[in-house]
Amino acid sequence: MLSLTEKKGEPSLDKFVIHGGKPLFGEVTVSGAKNAAVAIIPAALLVDGVCRVENIPMVRDVVIEMEILRELGIGVRVVNHSTIEIDSRGLNKYSAVSDLNRKMRASYYLIGAFLGRFHRAEVAMPGGCNFGGVRPIDQHMKGFEALGAAIETRNGIVFADASKGGLHGASVYLDVVSVGATMNIMLAACLADGQTVIENAAKEPHIVDLANFLNSMGADIMGAGTDVIKIRGVERLYGGTYSIIPDQIEAGTFMAAVAATGGSVLVRNIIPKHMDCITAKMEEMGAVIEEEDDSIRVTRSGPLRKLQVKTLPYPGFPTDMQPQLAAVLCLAEGTSVITEGVWESRFRYSDELRRMGAKIQVDGKVAVIEGVEGLTGAPVRASDLRAGAALVIAGLAAEGTTEIEEIGYIERGYEDLVEKLRKLGADISRVSEEPAADPIPRAN
Ligand code: EPZ
Repeated sequence: MLSLTEKKGEPSLDKFVIHGGKPLFGEVTVSGAKNAAVAIIPAALLVDGVCRVENIPMVRDVVIEMEILRELGIGVRVVNHSTIEIDSRGLNKYSAVSDLNRKMRASYYLIGAFLGRFHRAEVAMPGGCNFGGVRPIDQHMKGFEALGAAIETRNGIVFADASKGGLHGASVYLDVVSVGATMNIMLAACLADGQTVIENAAKEPHIVDLANFLNSMGADIMGAGTDVIKIRGVERLYGGTYSIIPDQIEAGTFMAAVAATGGSVLVRNIIPKHMDCITAKMEEMGAVIEEEDDSIRVTRSGPLRKLQVKTLPYPGFPTDMQPQLAAVLCLAEGTSVITEGVWESRFRYSDELRRMGAKIQVDGKVAVIEGVEGLTGAPVRASDLRAGAALVIAGLAAEGTTEIEEIGYIERGYEDLVEKLRKLGADISRVSEEPAADPIPRAN
């Protein structure tokens, strides 16, 4: 579980210590999807009732979002370790400009939610993982303007105002396939007058999950999961209960860990269809995959084979699995090529893997990885969430000890990672780096 400082969104001084070289065996249960949860929680602001959300991953980004809602005076009740209830009926403000909002990317969903409910929004520009490129939100703004909002950004705050004419349905063609813009426009359009059509929409599983959540509260959204989504505005949304889908990327991360270390692990609580793009690459590398209704067994005993892969929007190979795959390919026979097709660049982790003996050459959006016999443990630093996950995978496979700093990034998106890996036989522990308390001053 997260420490108090991390619950307040402060970065952790703790680190992971891994003694690698052990194959993984056993079973692991995947938590709810982080990238669905961080959109569904703000979406509750649109609901005139109580939302009970189950299968919530209690990761740092979710805990920060719960704090942001509480700062707004919204009732957030933790029912158990994976269920919360949100009651935003008393919400009477549309401004969220505190430091907490700057700590994560998904706080921008508050713009769509505030706009949808109040026709006004004042939200601090988002923070979030900086993995090397810019992370614009121009497509979000394009959608809000099409719906009738005037947008202005100043002093690091986005001001959106549709108070004069309200929000009306519109057709929005996204210039780039954007998960965030697709979800944010969906939020703003739910209660608008008329129908909104989003074209060139993103199709990720968490997009469908948000649409299903909103529809279960009374919204009228069709086509989520395709590149054309239609949202008919309704008068109001009612309370209800919704369970979040399993996290496709967490599941893929465990699959990559087994591919790297060898062994055999049953990954429970998955939706096989969501795993297709990852499963295909794991099999291409030489892992054996056995699919059940809601679980997948990954076994790797033979050599790892090299790969060519390009990350693409869903249903392509997910960019959020790119660093994890790179860590595995460091151990493959031959030379692999990874092309980052979604972000401007996303290879900052390569310096850290080189410290462990990896042979990676990066040129812009392309990484060329020459497989090596084995990696060796080293002190490394996580630069973002999935880069951190890649270092964990490399550490589990490496001979010797790996110490990973800046694990706060990793705990943004992985719930109980140490406990889950230890159950699979990994020798990993979380060591507190908190500065030792000042020695008790001696009487002079
Ligand atoms: C979401 O980010 C995820 N984050 C990211 O996962 C993920 O990498 C990304 O989608 C792609 O799947 C959350 O859901 C919280 P985008 P998002 O808008 O929505 C460009 C993780 O590891 N773009 O789909 O910010 C953008 O620069 C995180 O869990 C614009 O040009 O990503 C990028 O090249 C990291 N203008 C591409 O689109 C915009 O207005 C995809 O971005 C928006 C995006």
